[in-house]
Amino acid sequence: MTDSKRKILVTSALPYANGPIHLGHLVEYIQTDIWVRFQKQRGHQCIYVCADDAHGTPIMLKADQLGKSPQELIDQVSAEHQRDFAGFMVNFDNYYSTHSEENRHFASLIYQRLRDAGHISRRTITQAYDPVKNMFLPDRFIKGECPKCGAKDQYGDSCEACGATYQPTELKNAYSAISGAAPIEKESEHFFFKLGDFESFLRGWVNEHVQSQMIHKLNEWFEAGLQEWDISRDAPYWGFEIPDAPGKYFYVWMDAPIGYMASFKNWCDKNGVDFDDYWKQDSDAELYHFIGKDIAYFHTLFWPAELKGAGFRTPTGVFCHGFLTVNGQKMSKSRGTFIMAETYLKHLRPEYLRYYFAAKLGSGIDDIDLSLEDFRLRVNADLVNKVVNIASRCAGFIQKKFDGKLGSELTYASLYHEAVAAGHTIADAYEKREYARAMREIMHIADKANQYIDNAEPWVLAKQAGREAEVQDSCTLGINLFRVIISYLAPVLPEVAEKACEFLNIDTLAWNAIEQPLLDHRINKFKPLMQRVDEATIEALIEDSKQSLQAQPQVQSAQPAAAETELSKEPIADTIEFPDFAKVDLRVARIAKAEHVEGADKLLRLTLDLGGETRNVFAGIKSAYQPQELEGKLTVMVANLAPRKMKFGVSEGMVLAAGPGGKELWILEPHAGAQPGMRIK
Ligand code: MSP
Ligand code: ZN
Repeated sequence: MTDSKRKILVTSALPYANGPIHLGHLVEYIQTDIWVRFQKQRGHQCIYVCADDAHGTPIMLKADQLGKSPQELIDQVSAEHQRDFAGFMVNFDNYYSTHSEENRHFASLIYQRLRDAGHISRRTITQAYDPVKNMFLPDRFIKGECPKCGAKDQYGDSCEACGATYQPTELKNAYSAISGAAPIEKESEHFFFKLGDFESFLRGWVNEHVQSQMIHKLNEWFEAGLQEWDISRDAPYWGFEIPDAPGKYFYVWMDAPIGYMASFKNWCDKNGVDFDDYWKQDSDAELYHFIGKDIAYFHTLFWPAELKGAGFRTPTGVFCHGFLTVNGQKMSKSRGTFIMAETYLKHLRPEYLRYYFAAKLGSGIDDIDLSLEDFRLRVNADLVNKVVNIASRCAGFIQKKFDGKLGSELTYASLYHEAVAAGHTIADAYEKREYARAMREIMHIADKANQYIDNAEPWVLAKQAGREAEVQDSCTLGINLFRVIISYLAPVLPEVAEKACEFLNIDTLAWNAIEQPLLDHRINKFKPLMQRVDEATIEALIEDSKQSLQAQPQVQSAQPAAAETELSKEPIADTIEFPDFAKVDLRVARIAKAEHVEGADKLLRLTLDLGGETRNVFAGIKSAYQPQELEGKLTVMVANLAPRKMKFGVSEGMVLAAGPGGKELWILEPHAGAQPGMRIK
């Protein structure tokens, strides 16, 4: 039934090591895991590797913000990621990190080979630089007023208010989102990968290795021209130093895909497998990358070009998928539909989601929607009422009347053979990642099995004298059909499959095994394999998602009102060293405007004047002040607190206040002679 044994290496994109895994990510990891499990079940050698994407400015700054070293942060996040993936039964053969010696080796090797072959150029460019933090600013860390509509506090690439896109240099009154300082321009030499050298190779390559839906997008990119790609960053940077260029680092996206190789190499060393056998230019192994469409440019252009230029094999396929929406909309923190893996697992079994995604996934790049009501109904209807029901309807009779023994032949065997024959279509659908089609085919068999049992009515026969054999026959067929269905669903429902093996008293669900039905075979007592999902559970999940986001600083959500946290009678915190204290940039600010915030019990929105620059800050001082009392007052603010997205908008700093709380809460007021923007020493 299976073609000859294939050697397959599979990857999912490497999640960034600065945030938790959420249900959007899981579209990808579940999609990949199903494919890998399917290949293994078919008897192929299939290795699934992944890693945390551990480098880059956001990770460096985040660690800084948390008072940790980058290494501490990435270790902690890696453990959390692996916990969440295991919770969803995503079964990597190896999970590693891009911050590894193997990755340093391959990144340097690929760079050196590209350089020696003339594919790297160098030139000096001018970029925004933060004179306080002493570092170059990536576009997303520059903010200012939109050049088109004047909206404040827009990011360096596009305006959230009017949708305009522009260069960060076009922003008015630009400031660094890290220190608040106005950026200056500074020159530095950068290294570029000459993507254009690979244009003709890529034009041919993409047609055979990328989905047709993506080709259109790729053609646009070819039309626009393949630009040289800036692969270097200046210190301070969290990453690998470029071998022949002290103080210059590989840009995170340079060493990220190389992390696939590094993770595989790490696995090879532990398992005695020859790395080159998979990565040499004429390798007969297959290599597939599962990715989201947002990172296609990196995987369909840069990555194959780099591999080609460095003398390695190129991918057999790059499989892009679409984005997850929840209830028809972008995942939203305030609606409680930004659901983290960890939160989901507190309420629901992972296999419900695995099945639901499978039932919706095709091989294309369309977005997929998780409608929570549809999710509940679908899981209940398909898995509980259809699939599990087949076993529970038949198992009791076999157990009670025949001491757990199945009959010695299949009556109505054509139904069984039909179910086995459908395996070709189902395998074809899995292979092509058309899981929705596979699930439809499988449910079609389940419908037929249920119809058969409905008609056979073993519960009626069981009460009639002399019809014992018919009861055993119909239940034997029912249980055999259940086995076929569970074999087909095993890539999607690994735990149910394992429990079904115990019940069926068999040790494998290898794809071919179903050709032999279970006859004269003793099965074990049936235990319920899956419960229904009820509405209350879904509601609790949404409620919990709203809550847990508030507790999770790394997803940048609502900042708790100052009055509730800093200002209660708390013991003095652990001592900090002077350098920690010195990081806090305290400034005099004039409260230019104070307003109520609709829907907020504790917050006021303050517009703070820092002497030339204004900030929007939400402060939990509503219980103590009327907005008009505040306008014109001077206060003290933490000016370099990283901006935080709250339910009501972005808060860009914090004002200092003291007191036991409630009405007795006073903002700090510097001497009347202080000037807005003045630094407090
Ligand atoms: N670190 C890069 C990938 C480097 S690969 C060499 C990255 N990380 S990520 O954490 O942002 O995303 C990891 C994967 O999850 C990406 O393929 C991305 O497309 C996917 N998804 C993240 N959010 C998603 C949804 N909401 N929906 C579907 N997939 C999503 O990108
Ligand atoms: Zn605008």
